[in-house]
Amino acid sequence: MALHRKDKRGGVEERMLSVNPLYARGGESTEVPRFRLPDGPMLPDTASQIVRDELMLDGNARLNLATFVTTWMEPEADRLMAGCFDKNMIDKDEYPQTAELEMRCVNMLARLWNASGGAEATGCSTTGSSEACMMAGLALKRRWQHERRASAESTARPNLVMGINVQVCWEKFCDYFEVEPRYVPMEGARLHLNGEEAVKRCDENTIGVVAVLGSTFDGSYEPVAEISAALDELQERTGQDFPIHVDGASGAMVAPFLDPDLVWDFRLPRVASINTSGHKYGLVYPGVGWIVWRDAAALPEDLVFRVNYLGGEMPTFALNFSRPGAQVVAQYYNFLRLGFEGYRAVQQECRDVATYLSRSIAELKPFELVTAGEELPVLAFDVKDRVGSFSVFDVSYALRERGWLMPAYTFPKNREDLAVLRVVVRNGFSRDLADLLLEDLSRTLPRLLSQPAPLHDAASAAYHHNAYRRSPSAKEGK
Ligand SMILES: Cc1ncc(COP(=O)(O)O)c(C=O)c1O
Repeated sequence: MALHRKDKRGGVEERMLSVNPLYARGGESTEVPRFRLPDGPMLPDTASQIVRDELMLDGNARLNLATFVTTWMEPEADRLMAGCFDKNMIDKDEYPQTAELEMRCVNMLARLWNASGGAEATGCSTTGSSEACMMAGLALKRRWQHERRASAESTARPNLVMGINVQVCWEKFCDYFEVEPRYVPMEGARLHLNGEEAVKRCDENTIGVVAVLGSTFDGSYEPVAEISAALDELQERTGQDFPIHVDGASGAMVAPFLDPDLVWDFRLPRVASINTSGHKYGLVYPGVGWIVWRDAAALPEDLVFRVNYLGGEMPTFALNFSRPGAQVVAQYYNFLRLGFEGYRAVQQECRDVATYLSRSIAELKPFELVTAGEELPVLAFDVKDRVGSFSVFDVSYALRERGWLMPAYTFPKNREDLAVLRVVVRNGFSRDLADLLLEDLSRTLPRLLSQPAPLHDAASAAYHHNAYRRSPSAKEGK
């Protein structure tokens, strides 16, 4: 969300918004202020027509290949959500059944991620993975503080170890909650964290290690089991015990269905917590996320608040107080509607389309795959070095002419030389759409190849992978 906007002369824009005289009913104004509350009301039809006109310039969500977030749900889900728009998640006493559905979802996820069965799972819904990651980080920090205080050691300099490819929410967590971020840079073909590099950065002030199941940059899974084994080995040598949080914003709703043999979840005793975005491969409209802890002991009791619930108390842990209930209801609908086999089928179709796209793009001579959509259904590809006439940024611009939003961006520290295009295949991105995209991509190639030199570079890119980072130095922990 923009905090403020200035016009070219440095002042806030004062231009009025003109209302088409056909929309304005008798006596209504034909101009409304943009940044000031209008003096009086207008008819609902007039207001909604003005808003609809404003929104016309937004891109087509289904052609948005940049987002991981759900852009289509079934009409039944739309209707259910519309019926729940008025429910506030925090009012557990007023809406006990919505609270019950939330807990059912948490328990379903805990079992999907192999938490030791039996007891009621510890976890909750959030507005998205960002809030879930903040809460996971806070639990790690508080656990570390308790342990340090118990042995009369300083709690002044907590740090968190993670790959430089983490999503910006981890940079925010470290900044907002005063934890030193220890980023592992990329190196050569290693585009995410591994065990060896994680271990090198851990010390007595480390609150935990974040492993990402699937990297936002290229959709690759970080090797959670290998990172865990390296930390086991470190513990044997030094006695130091570091928990892992798995940021499964996307992958925690993909791997259980498509990669059952991949061990990345609570089967690893070191995994303390896992988050996912219900609004990504959980297939719900934004914003709902989920966080589950291994057990109640992994979430320090002193972070938990109590709210009224059916005449009793319900433990809660959240950053926001009020939150919409509709998304949680829609998540429960999806869980019922699809079941394990339904989710497996949807994610498999996404992976099939992603690998079909990557194979076809690799056949177009100028491109080279960085990832092929075999982990998250996400593919990243760059332009071969010997192609001097165009850049990935040129491709992104060219595809925009047909309405496709395909982001191009450079990788972070030590691979700033690598610039890629990324496609996120989501539910609803059919093989037909993939063929249309391939046709459009092929059609642009002769023109791009005939350019004397690239026209766009990273500086002119419309999409910045982490545009909201405050500064590169903050990211490097300097
Ligand atoms: C790995 C990862 N973590 C966290 C997030 C933040 O998720 P949300 O948008 O649900 O807050 C994202 C978003 O893309 C992500 O890819």
